[in-house]
Amino acid sequence: MQLIQGKQELQAQLSEWRVAGEHIALVPTMGNLHVGHVSLVDLAREHAERVVVTVFVNPTQFGEHEDFAGYPRTLERDTRRLRQIGADILFAPEVDTVYPFGIEHATLVSVPYLSENFCGSIRPGHFDGVTTVVARFFSLVQPAIAVFGQKDYQQQMIIRRMTEDLSLPIKIITAPTVREDDGLAMSSRNSYLSDEQRAVAPKLYETLRAIGEQLQAGQRNYDDLEGDAHAALEAAGFEPDYVAIRRAEDLSMPNRDCDEIVVLAAATLGVARLIDNIVVTI
Ligand code: PAF
Repeated sequence: MQLIQGKQELQAQLSEWRVAGEHIALVPTMGNLHVGHVSLVDLAREHAERVVVTVFVNPTQFGEHEDFAGYPRTLERDTRRLRQIGADILFAPEVDTVYPFGIEHATLVSVPYLSENFCGSIRPGHFDGVTTVVARFFSLVQPAIAVFGQKDYQQQMIIRRMTEDLSLPIKIITAPTVREDDGLAMSSRNSYLSDEQRAVAPKLYETLRAIGEQLQAGQRNYDDLEGDAHAALEAAGFEPDYVAIRRAEDLSMPNRDCDEIVVLAAATLGVARLIDNIVVTI
């Protein structure tokens, strides 16, 4: 595996592979890789001869009071891990490489509406930062496919919309959420949890599953289900941002004909902001 930090070196290698007719898969990450990321790389490998993983803690997707400075940066460990699992390139650029004209003067890519609700309303500008950096990696790498995790359900939906709207010839693949044995979705931010909070954290997934069971049993009072879940999370010690029951297809309110529902939640526990979701067929 090659560890590359510069654009020219990256593009030279990619064009060799393209000339040889090899397909390229992209797995964008912010590093601090865990088993969930490994599953994204494994899935990418099933779809392409070459896998490029980016490790870049993207400043434009963090709000002023968020954890950009403290976000775990573990490049040496990430490099070892990606070598072991057979990624072809780890692209780990500096901020100036990604934003050569500076962050203030960067061309922005923004997906309205879908970016404004849920995590977008709690973290204003967050998804504009995500789409801006992912668009940059898409145009640098020009992959045939790109893999994102289902845990960030809203994110993968926004990236799908951006890709379709800009007619980018990239197939977006969403990889299932990887969970700890007790159901907690794997996330780099789980490392912020104390032992006591870690014991409580699986309650988020339990709460989503309880809603899923009630939906499958025919309950359709979404306000009640969301309200009860909110209260249950608060009682367990979370500060919930939202619990929302929406159409899986486009995050709109479910109507009578809708048979695929996504239940999304975000809640803070201590200093860790956790997100999770489940998709339910009703
Ligand atoms: O999901 C993430 O880790 C990030 O939002 C992404 C897609 C790598 C963009 O920085």
